[in-house]
Amino acid sequence: MTAYSLTQCASWRALERHRARIESTTLRSLFDEDDKRAERFTVDAAGLHCDFSKQRINQETLRLLMDLARERDVVGHAQAMFRGEHINRTEDRAVLHVALRAPRGEKIMVDGLDAVAQVHDMLDRMARFCNAVRDGEWRGHGGKPVRNVVNIGIGGSDLGPVMAYEALRHYSRRDMCFRFVSNVDGADLLEATRGLDAGETLFIVCSKSFGTLETLTNARAARQWCVQQLGDERAVARHFVAVSANEKKVRDFGIDVQNMFALWDWVGGRYSMDSAIGLSTMLAIGPTQFAQMLAGFHAMDEHFRDTPAERNLPIIMGLLAIWNNNFLRSSTVAVLPYADDLKRFPAYLQQLTMESNGKHVTLDGAPVGYDTGPIYWGEPGTNGQHSFYQLLHQGTRAVPCDFIGFARPIHPLGRQHDILMASLIAQAEALAFGKTADQVRAEGTPKTLVPHRTCLGNRPSTVVLAEQLTPHTLGSLVALYEHSVFTQGAVWGIDSFDQWGVELGKQLATQVIDEVTDEREPALAHDGSTNALIRHYRALRGARP
Ligand code: F6P
Repeated sequence: MTAYSLTQCASWRALERHRARIESTTLRSLFDEDDKRAERFTVDAAGLHCDFSKQRINQETLRLLMDLARERDVVGHAQAMFRGEHINRTEDRAVLHVALRAPRGEKIMVDGLDAVAQVHDMLDRMARFCNAVRDGEWRGHGGKPVRNVVNIGIGGSDLGPVMAYEALRHYSRRDMCFRFVSNVDGADLLEATRGLDAGETLFIVCSKSFGTLETLTNARAARQWCVQQLGDERAVARHFVAVSANEKKVRDFGIDVQNMFALWDWVGGRYSMDSAIGLSTMLAIGPTQFAQMLAGFHAMDEHFRDTPAERNLPIIMGLLAIWNNNFLRSSTVAVLPYADDLKRFPAYLQQLTMESNGKHVTLDGAPVGYDTGPIYWGEPGTNGQHSFYQLLHQGTRAVPCDFIGFARPIHPLGRQHDILMASLIAQAEALAFGKTADQVRAEGTPKTLVPHRTCLGNRPSTVVLAEQLTPHTLGSLVALYEHSVFTQGAVWGIDSFDQWGVELGKQLATQVIDEVTDEREPALAHDGSTNALIRHYRALRGARP
């Protein structure tokens, strides 16, 4: 579909007309008008309780958004994904992360092969390997068991693994040490290997393409570190495993393909934390808990696939994102987990949402005539409350917020969890209802301070509550966002599964690397600023402090 057809859709135009009605009202009056609002706008799915009653909507908004989903055939697009059709059109690929968590015995055919059977063969291999490492049967070159695991990868080959490790640390083997290296800045690898005994260290080189500059550079440096410490090239076979879709490149790098765990081109990097890319997660929490995480993903997949749009949580969440983005003109979304173990969740979501939906043309290649993916950002609560929440409450832009919290703590400690959750609930209330000038005056506030202390409210948020942060909950939560991103992409008519925009920077960097390091100082043919920066860098790089 083209840009023209989206903004000309009857439902889109109806939503534009409807916007005025919503903009002229407030959350305060919407709640006053409807005492069933909280129940009406709450959905439970796959262990998640999601209250979106503090979004700036009424029943009519939701009805029109549902019309939009129908007009854009979101359900039809989802069915095409589940059938293994090549919905990633620009790369001519199926998009089948849902097959990664389908139960054994289910069948999803992709290009003539049963994806689910392939997945379970790989999960079995991963489980055998992880058990061998965890039980101390897999020995390092010098005969020592593995105590340290270092995952080397970037983007989807890092953010999922590190986020899941942090989130599920409580369920992990505490006698093992897990570290994650992504940045090509040498500081990252040096710090990650600091103090480690190479004889007890296993490196997982995670790269779907096995062609990513940062990952291969770090992997080479890690190999050198390992061989230097152990004094034998043959050590690589016991200390390096690879996760990749590119067997040839793994072999060329010098890792035995016996030590390679595969994924497939129908798994996008940012949708891969539950594939073999999650090997570090399985090593940390063990195959049984990993299976529970997959079950959480699958529960949300089934909900997404089988539930009518009106009660379908990812569809509702995706449509609300569109409502806020395209109609209420909010260009960012804050993700605020009230769980310290989810501290990397916003960073994980940034790739999932922004690499997926940061697109400027439709599937046909026509310029979109509307805004696509908003900027996602965030920090855990309550930390954020003491830094950027001021802008959320009184800034000039409304920032829709996703609050995420859990009823039961992982670490019961005095009243701490109740304080944490009370803060979440209070923040959502404060954003929605604010504090009127009358309320401020009634507190005896001096007249001049009344405007400063007034909070206008009317700032939208969604609250996602679950019983506890478990592997299962994490799976459901990630799948919720995956399918919400899918819904948004389907409405916008874009390819949510390619990422051509990241290529240009990579290409230019390859050229600039030569230019900054070539001693012959080659002539430069960039723009004036780039040329000057390269020259300045070359001069400083050569200079001694
Ligand atoms: O540069 C972007 C990207 O291609 C991401 O899409 C991907 O997750 C990341 O790089 C890493 O890619 P790979 O797993 O192939 O090393």
